[in-house]
Parts: sequence; C-alpha cells; structure tokens
Amino acid sequence: MKVLVTGAAGFIGSHIVAASLAAGHEVVALDVLLSAVHPDPAAARARLPEGVQLIEADVRDTAAVAGALQDVDVVCHQAAMVGLGVDLNDAPLYAGCNDLGTSVVLAGMARTGVRRLVLASSMVVYGEGRYDCPRHGQVAAAPRQEADLAAGRFEPLCGSCGDELVPGLVDESAALDPRNVYAATKAAQEFLTSAWARACGGTVAALRYHNVYGPRMPRDTPYAGVAAIFRSALAAGRAPLVFEDGGQRRDFVHVRDVAAANVAALNWTANASAGTFRAFNVGSGTPRTVGDLASGLAAATGGPEPVLTGRYRLGDVRHVTASSRRLRDELGWEPEVDFAEGLKEFAGSCDI
Ligand code: UD1
Repeated sequence: MKVLVTGAAGFIGSHIVAASLAAGHEVVALDVLLSAVHPDPAAARARLPEGVQLIEADVRDTAAVAGALQDVDVVCHQAAMVGLGVDLNDAPLYAGCNDLGTSVVLAGMARTGVRRLVLASSMVVYGEGRYDCPRHGQVAAAPRQEADLAAGRFEPLCGSCGDELVPGLVDESAALDPRNVYAATKAAQEFLTSAWARACGGTVAALRYHNVYGPRMPRDTPYAGVAAIFRSALAAGRAPLVFEDGGQRRDFVHVRDVAAANVAALNWTANASAGTFRAFNVGSGTPRTVGDLASGLAAATGGPEPVLTGRYRLGDVRHVTASSRRLRDELGWEPEVDFAEGLKEFAGSCDI
C-alpha cells in the first residue's frame, strides 16, 4: 500500500517511514522541517531512506497536501507541535499546526477519496491518570495544590476524605480531560478525525502515545521530554535533576515499538468498518518512575547519580500510566525493546 507519512522527518515519523518500508509499503513523506526541531535541515533530509519522496511543505498548505495525497491508500498523520511549549504565546502555533493542519489533511482526504487514517494522539488527553481511593473507589484526581507541592506532598489526595490515592492503569474508555494547550489540541484532533470518519465513511486509528524515547528524540528545546533532558545532562557530565521525589510514574515506550504499532494500525484501517474511530493506548505495559529512568540512564552512561531536587512544575500530572491491552488484543502488537537495552542504546545515540 502507499502511505503518506506527515511529519516524516521527525523523531517518531522517521521511524515509521523505516518500519513501513520494511513492511513492504511505499512511502510518501511530507514535512516542513521546522527549524526549532530540525536545526540542520540537510541532516534531516539525509535521514530519509533513498527512494522516499520528500515533499517539504506545511500540513496547513492545502495545495501541497492535495499533491501529496495523490494515489495514497492511507495517511499516517504525525506532523504536530509537541511538548508543553514555553507559554501561552505558543497557543496559536499549537492550534494552527495541530488542529488547522489536521483539518487541512482531512479536507484533502475527503476530496481525493482517501478514507484511512492513523493519527498520532497522546496520553495527555486523559489529564491525570486513573486513581482509586481506599475508601471511595475510583475517583477523579483534582489538580494538585501548590501549597502541597511546596511542602513535598506530591501524591494527589481524595477530594472527599483527603486520603492518598492509589494510581492505576487508564484504559481507552476513560473520559478525556486535557489540561494544557497541547493536550487540548490533541483531544481536538481526535474529535476532528472522528467527525471526518462519520461524515465520509473513513476509518481512524488514534494512537495515544505514552512517553516515547529512543534515537533521534529531540533535545535541548522547551519541547523536549524528560528522557532527552536527562541524556543531555549526563552527556555534559552533569547529574540528571529529578523533580518532585522521583516517584512520579510514566510508561516509557521505545520509538521502534511505537513505529511497529503504527504499521499494525495502518493494516487495521483497511479492515475496520466505515465510519469507525478507535483509540489505542501505546505503552510498554510496565510503569516506571522518573527516578527509575534517571538512574537507568545514569547507569547506562556511567554518569553521575541523579539528584532528587524536590522541585516541581505546577502543570505536571503526578502519575499517568495506561493499559495497552486493546492494542495487544486487537492489533496483535507486542513491545519488543527491553527497557534497559533501550536506555543503553538511547544513551549512546546523540543524533538530533
Ligand atoms: C510527555 C510529553 C507529552 C506527551 C506525554 C505522553 C514532553 C515535553 N511531554 O508529557 O508531549 O504527550 O508525555 O504521555 O515531551 N521531569 C524531571 N526533570 C526534568 C524534566 C521533567 O524530573 O528535568 C519530570 C516531570 O516533572 C514529570 C516527568 O519528568 O514528572 C515527565 O515530564 P515530561 O517528559 O515533560 O513529560 P510528560 O509530562 O509525561
């Protein structure tokens, strides 16, 4: 099949291109090579395998998107602004790239008759993860109070009794509760694609990525994830600075496993019934703490031990970990990269 990968030169997109080619698909690549992400555009171009046509254009460019969609069977839409950004001045850029961009792609698909879509979504659409109160059962965690964080009380508390909550695994039936601009744009992408599927009988697999790490992860930008920040610190001989007490839980999933999930989802869109939108969490299935990540990377690099700083960011969620059962059961996907091995490889990879 012929796949259009948007954001194809990026961290995750470039691995999807490789995995799609390995699966025998033909790939068309669309990427605007944003300078914030690709300080060296020539290197980004060179990263694409030979024979892959790169269309250097913005996803908001209607004519370029229409051209890229010619003879395409399925779109894998990865192009997006990611991370928390700097401040609210970034909001128009996030909404523009992520939501206007998605609408342009969807309109182009509607016009050219392309009916299959895989969307890069994110766990951030859930907000805080799933929690149970020992007394009140499953409860929604209220945003944490600054006074609690400043006093080193990091665990979310039950709104009714004030007891500490026990974190659990979120599944795809959980309500969406986006808590920052980026999260809101990802939730909006899901709603837009779902509306598109209903309107033109399309099929959409929305992959809600957990914390993706691995080679080519962006670094040293306001948009970088914690694994890249720790790796940069260790490469400079500094200790990773762990916020809170390091006990915050995430699921760190390797980028090659995420690429494999995309390839499985591309196939799924061919057989799903017309009008279907289905979300799939994409995580390794093994929650880790940020402290585990820091010490794992320090061990892999032989660098200084992490420092627990007690610092905090008000917008951070404490724990979010998902169940990827649906992805395993329905798409037959299994993560293959072992965490320690993945960290070792990641620690040694310094490409941007
Ligand atoms: C991340 C992504 C988000 C993605 C989501 C998927 C980024 C910036 N955010 O959010 O786009 O959709 O995963 O679940 O890529 N921390 C430290 N030290 C630091 C920086 C961070 O200890 O120097 C801690 C934070 O306090 C937080 C944890 O690391 O508890 C993770 O932070 P971060 O990588 O920014 O990601 P998420 O908030 O999980």
